Amino acid sequence: MVTEIFKVDKDSLDILNKAAELLRTGELVAIPTETVYGLGANAFDKNACLNIFKAKGRPGDNPLIVHIANPLDAEQIAYTNPLYYKLADKLMPGPLTVILPKREVIPAEVTAGLDSVAIRCPAHPVANKLIEMAGIPIAAPSANSSGKPSPTTASHVFDDMEGKIPLILDGGECDVGVESTVIKITENEIVLLRPGAVTVEMLKDFCENVSIAGAVKEELKAGEKPLSPGMKYKHYAPAAELYLIDDKSVNFVEFTKEKQKAESCAVMCYDEELPLLENKNLLPVGKREDIKNQTKRLFILLRKADKMGVDTIYAHLPDDTGESLAIYNRMIRACAHKIIK
Ligand code: TXA
Ligand code: MG
Repeated sequence: MVTEIFKVDKDSLDILNKAAELLRTGELVAIPTETVYGLGANAFDKNACLNIFKAKGRPGDNPLIVHIANPLDAEQIAYTNPLYYKLADKLMPGPLTVILPKREVIPAEVTAGLDSVAIRCPAHPVANKLIEMAGIPIAAPSANSSGKPSPTTASHVFDDMEGKIPLILDGGECDVGVESTVIKITENEIVLLRPGAVTVEMLKDFCENVSIAGAVKEELKAGEKPLSPGMKYKHYAPAAELYLIDDKSVNFVEFTKEKQKAESCAVMCYDEELPLLENKNLLPVGKREDIKNQTKRLFILLRKADKMGVDTIYAHLPDDTGESLAIYNRMIRACAHKIIK
């Protein structure tokens, strides 16, 4: 199959029409969102959704997120509650996915047999316009091959999906850079399953009872059943060994400078540290205080590191609070909890 890529914005109606038609007829289309690129299919079409799993090499027991153009459309596919509407009013469209009990219309293939469905209304003009034009909810996981970092540019998608899907819509670099915040809710409780740009602090404005699932910060214990199937997969491990350095106890510059002399390594450093390190295989993550930029660059840099052919990668251990919790969560998984203290 030939994979076409088109640069689009919300007014590229010819291409969006073509994409909407492909989706309605059961084909897969890669779509830009504000978080990461998604690999979309008609959420009512179980065969189309099964093809998502094939194209990604995704385990069949890991459910998909269903994307809608308007938060009110959740009513057709899930049993909502007042807390959902309070969240939707302030945070949708946006980088938030809400898990609710599912209605019959959503095939078991989408939810991996679970009785709940994950719902998201993306804040990207192209994604929104396309879902509206297609007239159906769109099931879409991140558009990477399983086990690789989520794609934040159309060329990342092409690297993973060439020959497997007919169309990639290129909407430029994703704004956020990591996947949406995933929460499971009841009328009076929010459980955070995956941290993203919508933070725990923001969620506390809507509900007194906000908790963080254990697997967000820690490894799952042997035999422990995860709240979200995605938690049990070792998401992405770079080809090189990744180590996180706790700079509260270890001097990052001194430590990595020695490693640069002794090893073939890459260093993910803050911009401020660039002049202090040897100018070899440096991957600047952004300014120390600029968490938004660090989030945006994270997957771009991990993909770059893979292409460098080094033996080891050293990076700062991120804070596990606020907006930085999303980076912490992705990095501790990528390094398989190898932390230098
Ligand atoms: O930002 C995002 O959320 C992107 C863009 C494309 O929207 N999508 C994305 O999808 O990251 P994916 O499939 O890579 O991650 C979905 C996560 C997985 O960890 C999955 O296990 C969890 O959501 N999930 C989906 N449905 C669930 C359910 N019913 N119960 C618990 N977890 C669920
Ligand atoms: Mg994913």
